[in-house]
Amino acid sequence: MTDGPVHVWLDGSILPADGAHVSAFDRGFQLGDGIFETLRARGGRLTELAEHLARLRRSASGLDIALPADIDASVTAGIRDLLEAEGLAGPAADASVRITVTRGAFRGRGLLPPPGAMAPTIAIQAWPVAPPPPGHLTDGLHLVASDIRRDPENPLATLKTTSRADYVHARLEARRAGADDALFLTTDGHLSEATSANIFLLRGDELATPDLACAILPGTTRSWILGWASRAGLRPIEGWLTTRDLAEADEAFLCSSVAGILPVTSFEGRPIGDGRPGPITLRARAEREAFIRGEAPLATSGSDPAADRDPGLSP
Ligand SMILES: Cc1ncc(COP(=O)(O)O)c(C=O)c1O
Repeated sequence: MTDGPVHVWLDGSILPADGAHVSAFDRGFQLGDGIFETLRARGGRLTELAEHLARLRRSASGLDIALPADIDASVTAGIRDLLEAEGLAGPAADASVRITVTRGAFRGRGLLPPPGAMAPTIAIQAWPVAPPPPGHLTDGLHLVASDIRRDPENPLATLKTTSRADYVHARLEARRAGADDALFLTTDGHLSEATSANIFLLRGDELATPDLACAILPGTTRSWILGWASRAGLRPIEGWLTTRDLAEADEAFLCSSVAGILPVTSFEGRPIGDGRPGPITLRARAEREAFIRGEAPLATSGSDPAADRDPGLSP
């Protein structure tokens, strides 16, 4: 291997990255029968680890994957060991950490797993976080609508499964269109989410985002922003938003754990607002990054105890 991580944590051991082998019979490899989480570790602080572990358990439950009883403790220790091994635990380090859990390996054929609990395969990987390409902050992201629609009735739409073919397809659609990302709409044409981020629209003092029922992943950053909005003097709204709402927004942005908050300045070739990254978006980004660094919240016009919690001390 010439580039990328040197180690992988696999089922309890830190292994050389090119020696970390998963069975060809693993259902994650064969069927995308697995779940994952991605979180940010800044200066060794694990941002919102408890929230990510809770979502991992929710995704596992949705796919009926049995997690080991000690999953929280083993994954937390595994992340710390891996960050140390990768040299990503120091005060200046900034890492993205991925936890992948598959249903495990099964020598039989077919979709149906064998009766009874299987031993899941659990892997942890870590990469240094690169700063966003300069244009993403100065010019903002250009989005197009994906041809793929999201069905709010699909019970798997809100789970973070490793079955990501739709998302890969949408990213390729965006690349072919010369855009930075694609936005999924619901089957009835409402805004859902981008390929790896939730979306927010600002109009006046309202900061709106698609409701949890709009076939979205319940993002950890989305939750943080809904709390931040009130403290910043904005009105957070969760609802059924349209492409017209997007077109008429003053500002728009995407948000996720690793990329943080990124301005969206055009949709389908038409500018949003004045076509420049907006001041509220840039302020939200700066305050989220400060939170990730473990600094005191900058926006304090209200009191939300969660805002003051040390992001690195989650169990
Ligand atoms: C499809 C999708 N939506 C939203 C998000 C944002 O979630 P979070 O803020 O928890 O990273 C992600 C994160 O990767 C995602 O893959």
